[in-house]
Amino acid sequence: MTKEHLGLPVGTTLDRFIKRKQDDFPYATGELSQLLRDIALAGKIINREISRSGLLNIGGAFGATNVQGEEQQKLDVIADIRFTRALKNGGEVCAIISEEEEEIIDLDNPKGRYIVAMDPLDGSSNIDVNVSIGTIFSIYRRKSPVGGPISKEDVLQAGTEQVAAGYLLYGSSTMLVYTTGHGVYGFTYEASLGEFFLSHQDIKMPEDGKIYSINEGSYCSFEPAVKEYIDYCKENEYSARYIGSLVADFHRNLLKGGIYIYPCTSKAPNGKLRLLYECNALAFIAEQAGGCATNGYGRVLEIQPTELHQRCPFFIGSKKMVQMASDLMKKQEQETAAGTV
Ligand code: AHG
Ligand code: MN
Ligand code: MN
Repeated sequence: MTKEHLGLPVGTTLDRFIKRKQDDFPYATGELSQLLRDIALAGKIINREISRSGLLNIGGAFGATNVQGEEQQKLDVIADIRFTRALKNGGEVCAIISEEEEEIIDLDNPKGRYIVAMDPLDGSSNIDVNVSIGTIFSIYRRKSPVGGPISKEDVLQAGTEQVAAGYLLYGSSTMLVYTTGHGVYGFTYEASLGEFFLSHQDIKMPEDGKIYSINEGSYCSFEPAVKEYIDYCKENEYSARYIGSLVADFHRNLLKGGIYIYPCTSKAPNGKLRLLYECNALAFIAEQAGGCATNGYGRVLEIQPTELHQRCPFFIGSKKMVQMASDLMKKQEQETAAGTV
């Protein structure tokens, strides 16, 4: 898709951009457009809470753990409430799957056609130390009839079924990056005007890169193929960059080229990241930008989920880097099967 095709220059407001994209699809009802606006609004509200968190008493632990036994931060809970409220009020979403909630949240919106899976605050261990954090979201169309009860098939859809996905990055500037399957676009928030403006047109990830992002503190428990790949990165003097906020690490690699890996470790035997509300959204964006995302063996987007909070080993980034790491994983699998290692 060329810039000319869209005819929308850098500086276009998000609202205008969404409206123009909708006009490209004559039968679109406008509901997805409205949903994207609801998400942008929730993002603005969370951005405001985060930027004031040092002044208000909303830093630190909330005093509870989520379904995965992780300590919730106050801002995790605030972001979850803010997003849920914005989506409930919008009316287009019938159900939410959230990192912070054990069960499906039925929003009781009788006309809602969409399901949203979200990580309301990603990288929450970085909140109190002023390091970039984010929000991740995936949007699906419900399978069951509108107005009826939500079924498991509605929420356990493969990533290939996403109609849109994106993230908000609360960093040195706040950005919204999203795709509806027609390229990836980035918008930067101008707080004094309360608007997101198109700043990154049709983002393409470099095919190859020299940045690797992995928590190397767990090196000793990585599988041999992951160790081999990391050793290769070091032998070739790649740069190690690991923020500890998936969104921020991914965003940097998206723009500069690189690979992010969260493999199986002794602490996280199936990887740490969650398929439905972390991996799938970023995998969709990576592929739309010309990159690649696997679980080491196959395409993340094709995994059929069986559980809401399912985890998944994650290799995402520049195509050539992810391919090389995945080739090593497959070679290791074959050697293990043949009993040669
Ligand atoms: P969350 O804050 O939503 O629980 O996600 C944290 C994730 C991810 O953002 C990050 O890349 C990873 O956990 C860091 O984990 P380690 O500290 O184990 O490296
Ligand atoms: Mn997360
Ligand atoms: Mn989170």
